[in-house]
Amino acid sequence: MAKKRVLSGTRPTSKLHLGNLLGALENWKKFESEDAFFMIADWHALTTEYESHTSIRKNVLEVALDYLASGLDPKRATIFVQSWVSEHAELALLLSMITPLSWLERNPTYKDQIQELSDKELHTHGFLGYPVLQAADILLYQADIVPVGEDQLPHLELCREIARRFNHLYKKVFKEPEAALSKVPKLPGIDGRKMSKSYGNAIFLSDSPKEVDLKVMQMVTDPARKLRTDKGHPEVCPVYFYHKIFNKENEAVVAKECRAAERGCVECKREMSKHLQAFTKPMYEKRSELEKKPDLVVDILKAGSEKASQTAQKTLAQAKEAVGI
Ligand code: TRP
Ligand code: SF4
Repeated sequence: MAKKRVLSGTRPTSKLHLGNLLGALENWKKFESEDAFFMIADWHALTTEYESHTSIRKNVLEVALDYLASGLDPKRATIFVQSWVSEHAELALLLSMITPLSWLERNPTYKDQIQELSDKELHTHGFLGYPVLQAADILLYQADIVPVGEDQLPHLELCREIARRFNHLYKKVFKEPEAALSKVPKLPGIDGRKMSKSYGNAIFLSDSPKEVDLKVMQMVTDPARKLRTDKGHPEVCPVYFYHKIFNKENEAVVAKECRAAERGCVECKREMSKHLQAFTKPMYEKRSELEKKPDLVVDILKAGSEKASQTAQKTLAQAKEAVGI
């Protein structure tokens, strides 16, 4: 059977954390045997970080290290940087001509983000056009499948609508992609809220085993359990959430002992920390090795971007021809 074309990406606004790993990268890895493209979406980072632009290039390299440390293999998948493949910007401009403003204004993630990031001035042309650029990312590669989290579904739907409108106005150039949803529920951070670098509650792939341990020991637990003798409620405890992922075999014992007040939270965290460290340590070590070879990482990104460009050029040429420009 012919391989499926797969494309996804993340915004390099910071180093990646465990939530990014479980919610995105682990899902991507399932597609490495297909014809997969994994992008570092630095133009997209610029839509919200344009005032702190000096950190974006640094974060491109951090995210590249995270991709490689997590086990994405540049021999199997094409790993590249969005702005290094200039066709992304060009197709985005072309698609912006045919995208009605009303489609962008009703985009739910647009409204959410403007509220959530209220300290930033996001009433910009670039931020409103975020989904147009994302559509260009996907359509340039004629992607069949786009592995993303649920929050990205509105963007994918817009991408499909833009493709349909283009194909209808000119001729059929673009394929309509499908989402492949990541099933992992949102990982809590050490304060129990959703893990996010802006909340300061994240465990990063670059954290050493010692840093991971310190963070685990700071984690919030069942707030109703004040004394060692109080019975716990594992279902509301972030530490237990991690046991379910990183200490699967003992999950039932942990829950039972917590409910019966047969284990204390400190020992419970120690046990979980051990399992979590066993999971993160190989990534930490691989990342530390790669950090010593920044040239190698840049070479991987350059080669990936050149390869991506070959595919992107073909599609862009077809699109320009169809429009008559
Ligand atoms: N908007 C995506 C996110 O925030 C990142 C992204 C940019 C992307 N371009 C993409 C994801 C293309 C999938 C396909 O996670
Ligand atoms: Fe959470 Fe473990 Fe404490 Fe129960 S014993 S509240 S699961 S940390």
